[in-house]
Amino acid sequence: MKIFLRLYRFIWQRKWPFILGSIPMVAAMVLNNLAPFFVKWLTETVQADQFDQAFNLLFLFAGLLLTANILENIGYFVTDKNMVGTSNAIAQAVLTHIHNLDFAYHTNKSSGKLISLMKRGDDAFFAYYDIINRQLLNLAISFGMMIFAFTSLRAGYLIFVAVLLCLTSLVATFLIKLNIQKRQAFNDADDDVSSARVDNLVNFDTVKYFANEKFEQSRFAKLLRIWNRRLQDYFFTFRYFDGLVGNLINFALVGIMFIALRDLSQNVISLAEFLLVTTFSMTLFPKMMHLLFSMRELAKKNTDLRTYLDLLDEPIAVRDPESPKKIAELQGNITFEQVDFAYDKKQLVLEDFSLQIEAGEAIALVGFSGAGKSTVAKLLMRMYDSTSGQILIDDVAINDLTKADLRSIVGVVPQDPLLFNNSVYFNIAYANHQASKTEVLAAAKAAQVDAFIKDLPNGYETIVGERGIKLSGGQRQRLAIARILLEKPKIIILDEATSSLDSASEQIIQAAFWNLVRDQKNPRTSIIIAHRLSTIMQADRIVVMDQGKIAEIGTHDELIERDGGIYQRLWSLQKNGFIGDGESES
Ligand SMILES: Nc1ncnc2c1ncn2[C@@H]1O[C@H](COP(=O)(O)OP(=O)(O)OP(=O)(O)O)[C@@H](O)[C@H]1O
Ligand SMILES: [Mg+2]
Repeated sequence: MKIFLRLYRFIWQRKWPFILGSIPMVAAMVLNNLAPFFVKWLTETVQADQFDQAFNLLFLFAGLLLTANILENIGYFVTDKNMVGTSNAIAQAVLTHIHNLDFAYHTNKSSGKLISLMKRGDDAFFAYYDIINRQLLNLAISFGMMIFAFTSLRAGYLIFVAVLLCLTSLVATFLIKLNIQKRQAFNDADDDVSSARVDNLVNFDTVKYFANEKFEQSRFAKLLRIWNRRLQDYFFTFRYFDGLVGNLINFALVGIMFIALRDLSQNVISLAEFLLVTTFSMTLFPKMMHLLFSMRELAKKNTDLRTYLDLLDEPIAVRDPESPKKIAELQGNITFEQVDFAYDKKQLVLEDFSLQIEAGEAIALVGFSGAGKSTVAKLLMRMYDSTSGQILIDDVAINDLTKADLRSIVGVVPQDPLLFNNSVYFNIAYANHQASKTEVLAAAKAAQVDAFIKDLPNGYETIVGERGIKLSGGQRQRLAIARILLEKPKIIILDEATSSLDSASEQIIQAAFWNLVRDQKNPRTSIIIAHRLSTIMQADRIVVMDQGKIAEIGTHDELIERDGGIYQRLWSLQKNGFIGDGESES
């Protein structure tokens, strides 16, 4: 029921094409269902030897068929606009909702599953629309007219038909339920197969590095075997359906003809009336069979459509506040107040994390791999909400800002930036759609991407490949820096890549980055997750993290003096200016 309401809410968004298209369609259906009456009238006129009138009736019938056809086509044409528009509205709503979902959702989802689910849902929508708004409506009108015709003859016919229809519907309902179950099981297997496909496509290089093609093929074959078995099970439910339901309908058809023939032999009804009953039954029962097939189809589509629309119910964990606050005059102070955070309930990744960062200050976050540095950045961007404690910007809790406002204040250069499969220009300009071409090119120059872009086959119009695969890691990160230079947010997080840049371009980027951060007129607050000496040295303060906690805070000179301290150990471990990937010892 919920799915109907939901669907019709979408359909109703374009109510005029729906209403205006349905009127001629209904008219056409009524006209088409007049055929059995024409058979009756024709028989009567022929029996009365009034052939002139019989021919007139036939011409009238031809005119009626033509009118019905034209009306039907107009109806389809107009409601098609509603159908396609509704499909687009659903697709748009689903994508919008997916955008609102949290990082946690996106890290746990499988893109392959989601894509096949959406595709199936969209296909299902068209079939569903056709069955509900056209086929079912047509059958309801046919039934209405049959009830009218039969009751004017003998109520007994109607009772016979009603009893058999109830029985058929009961059997059909049971079988449809079974069918849905099997379909759901098959869908799960189908999702697993497409998920495996996507995983293989995305990780094609890893497969090759380890020469694991055979392994992947056998993993895939195993999934296909399950897929196959479930599909067979699903198909088998159709055989039950066709056997049982098909024969019940046949029985109803022959039964009603039998009763009518008996009535004819006993002169209870006329030949014309016998033909009326027979023609109605001959046209209606196959339609009924068709409808039950459609119901079966509907059951299948119902599952697909429901799973698709259920995406809209996927809960949003990181929500915008009911009454959001604004920061009047943005300074860029950041306060972490006793922040605890866990990705899953069991293990705290950040524990009692408290830190005050002044406006304009540059903080370097250092620590062993897995210490929780990137997590700090994600919490500040509200990719996740902290488990307890709070984060404030200029004394306003970030949870009181809209996510959009917060993310326009804070900009991030991620550790491993991913790009859209679009042009280099598109990917840079993504940070600021209002930026002029001159501004985009200036940002590219400042981030030192200009030089390598000019060497690309189509310059700024070169397509970077899925996730930016055609660029090197260093080029991708420079592109991400160009974006930030274009966005110019008040707070900047740089999650430095450990090894993506050569020393020469690193120096130039550092210069561009620090120019932005240390802007005399409008200094920015920055958190640099640092792996490089040069970065650490330029920071105002260094925060050393260990297993989710702050272990030490101070300037480089202070920390280097602290005997037995983590920073001192990191310092001595680092090679070539990078902090190594060693594990924490504590
Ligand atoms: N999406 C996630 N789901 C579950 N656990 C996660 C997730 N992301 C990170 N973790 C875990 O949280 C801990 C901290 O990860 P984080 O990415 O913050 O480390 P890091 O200090 O940035 O390390 P690195 O220097 O290697 O980038 C790690 O133990 C990691 O395994
Ligand atoms: Mg990290």
